Amino acid sequence: MSEQIQPAEHRPVAVTVLGLGHMGSALARAFLANRHTVTVWNRSAAKAEPLVHAGAQQAKSVQDAAAASDVIVVCVVDYAVSNSLLDSRAVLEKLRGKTVVQLTSGTPQRAREAEAWARRQEISYLDGAIISYPSGVGTPECMILYAGPEEVFEAHRKLLGSLGGNAVFLGERIGSASALDLSLLTFGFAANMGFLHGAALCEAEGISVDSYLEAANALMAIIAGDSLKAAKMISKSNYAGHEASLEVCASAFGNILRFSDEAGVHRAGSELLVSLVKGAIASGYGGHEFPAVFEVLCKKKNLKTN
Ligand SMILES: NC(=O)c1ccc[n+]([C@@H]2O[C@H](COP(=O)([O-])OP(=O)(O)OC[C@H]3O[C@@H](n4cnc5c(N)ncnc54)[C@H](OP(=O)(O)O)[C@@H]3O)[C@@H](O)[C@H]2O)c1
Repeated sequence: MSEQIQPAEHRPVAVTVLGLGHMGSALARAFLANRHTVTVWNRSAAKAEPLVHAGAQQAKSVQDAAAASDVIVVCVVDYAVSNSLLDSRAVLEKLRGKTVVQLTSGTPQRAREAEAWARRQEISYLDGAIISYPSGVGTPECMILYAGPEEVFEAHRKLLGSLGGNAVFLGERIGSASALDLSLLTFGFAANMGFLHGAALCEAEGISVDSYLEAANALMAIIAGDSLKAAKMISKSNYAGHEASLEVCASAFGNILRFSDEAGVHRAGSELLVSLVKGAIASGYGGHEFPAVFEVLCKKKNLKTN
């Protein structure tokens, strides 16, 4: 006799979302889409209206919002605002024994301070970082990083999975989610800025942005390979290679600066790169490959040669 597979039982969880900006609203929508019992609060109350239409309960105060659920997800502009909302006697009374999941962006130090505060108040605390735009929240690809006590993450893994299929637990070092978030933002913004700078140079010579994009797409694979190579070199603190020396890169940067000047394009972005490359050359890495700039960024001087 064939066994019938039962669909996994759905257990709705009561969850509160504090902060209904672009991201907080997306988080609340994702919880609702997964049929959880959602309470929302926002300073500007009108932003709750579409969510109430979609089935959320609107709390009149942060205190009521904290009382409504055992899990409180915070997503406001910064930690200072989050602290101002949570750190009052009336709210703390409702939070004690519950779990706060901080999805506001911050720094590792802010996360450590928040964890210490939560421990003093007998609140379980997870610090998270959303690696997605609001439109990606709730999709299988959406990556959200979490740090904190493993048992707290495991207790809420299924609920947090509603926000994105790629919920990554980084471990108990509470600063790790924001550290990785800010590192990825550093990479992403620099890459996007590089794309814009290149687009400005193309425009100066009458090359269409579509042609530029087509060529840039081919470059993406090279950049992915460069990141892999850089990671290997960094892990060995050894930047010797046979592809392109930093001296050769410096000469390419010289051309970029000259072209920027000739074309009337801002040179600030390239100047920063030139100063880092010059710093690495001055530290003795001229014959090494581009990832040697890592040593300048880390302010290290441990030159290793083959
Ligand atoms: N948007 C993204 O793509 C993205 C991606 C990853 C992470 N994040 C992070 O998510 C967090 C929220 O971003 P967002 O895009 O949702 O920003 P947003 O649309 O500007 O929303 C900001 C939120 O903070 C609240 N807020 C600001 N000042 C406040 C105050 N003094 N008191 C009470 N509430 C206050 C706002 O309330 P009002 O509505 O009343 O102004 C709103 O709920 C940020 O930490 C951001 O870095 C965003």
